[in-house]
Amino acid sequence: MNSLVCSSPFNLEYKQLPAPELTAGNAIIRIKNICICGTDLHAFEGTQPYFNYPRILGHELSGELVDADAAPGFNKGDLVTIIPYFNCGDCLACRSGKSNCCSKLRVCGVHIDGGMVEYLSVPSYSLVKAEGLNSQQLAMVEPLAIGAHGVRRAGISTGENVLVMGAGPIGLGAAEFARIAGANVIMLDINEYRLRFAQNQLGIEKVIHAGNENVMTQLELFTNAEMPAIVMDATGNQEVINQGLAYLAHSGRYVLIGLQKKNLEFSHPEFHKRETTLMSSRNATREDFDKVIFSIKNNLLNPTAFVTEWIKFDSVKESIGDWLHSPNLVKIGIEMD
Ligand SMILES: NC(=O)c1ccc[n+]([C@@H]2O[C@H](COP(=O)([O-])OP(=O)(O)OC[C@H]3O[C@@H](n4cnc5c(N)ncnc54)[C@H](O)[C@@H]3O)[C@@H](O)[C@H]2O)c1
Ligand SMILES: [Zn+2]
Ligand SMILES: [Zn+2]
Repeated sequence: MNSLVCSSPFNLEYKQLPAPELTAGNAIIRIKNICICGTDLHAFEGTQPYFNYPRILGHELSGELVDADAAPGFNKGDLVTIIPYFNCGDCLACRSGKSNCCSKLRVCGVHIDGGMVEYLSVPSYSLVKAEGLNSQQLAMVEPLAIGAHGVRRAGISTGENVLVMGAGPIGLGAAEFARIAGANVIMLDINEYRLRFAQNQLGIEKVIHAGNENVMTQLELFTNAEMPAIVMDATGNQEVINQGLAYLAHSGRYVLIGLQKKNLEFSHPEFHKRETTLMSSRNATREDFDKVIFSIKNNLLNPTAFVTEWIKFDSVKESIGDWLHSPNLVKIGIEMD
């Protein structure tokens, strides 16, 4: 079968590999669509921490079930996606229903080979049914589930002011689920294209260009001087994360979806006087995947609007360099057929 292997930073190679065979507890999927994640781009440019090469990238995927063992309720030919965080089922997090932060987590396409192949073997427990979504919509479920999880962690109620920092695919997804939860959503970024996308495609009217506007003044304006009850970071930028606490209302929740490598640094008195609830948000669980699928099915959001361009699998190698630092895109999708 054809595959695309990232053999070392900046090197992608199409390679013929043997197709996987069905083994106990696993399922074989014929891949139809894959969306490209920031993680894939970071792995390609060699900036993804703790990453080993060679690696086959890709975890935001959809496909047709070719064969499966131990997959009750699934049939050959079913359209499926996967929860690509393979967990041990055994540790405290897993036993508490938080398989998203399993202590031995292996993410498909990150720690083990992923979806840029014709056929992929995955644990049957990771399968998710299409529920009527098409394969392009299904390939967008995982990235949207990240934002859905952050919003669920935040426990947003109707009418609350929510600031989402970072209008990349992850932040835009978080903004969508905050909107669906009934929040007054404000988006902050420095990328004009993405802020316009949030306004024009997602209907998020309140946006702040952090490079051109005074963030505090705009937040006061948009929240009737109350400031956001919830601030969510989806920039993964250390300075933005350190600064974000200043935007939070007293009694607020600060949710870190974005990730960076250094220490967090806040003023303790600022943190204390708000009685801030600080939480990280890692990956997503089946509940979040179900929420995303339900929301798409009920036309609460349009996942394919996020995909700036669908390209053929054969063109990924020649095009990936163009996507690395392009300001004018949200998401790239791949067509395998
Ligand atoms: N929680 C999880 O499990 C999970 C999963 C996937 C990605 N992530 C993390 O989420 C973050 C966002 O992912 P993404 O794919 O959307 O990334 P992205 O790079 O596409 O988006 C980040 C956005 O932040 C904006 N930004 C950067 N610096 C800024 C600044 N100084 N002020 C305002 N905006 C700024 C950028 O313009 C960009 O639009 C990353 O840190 C990523 O590692 C977390
Ligand atoms: Zn991803
Ligand atoms: Zn575990």
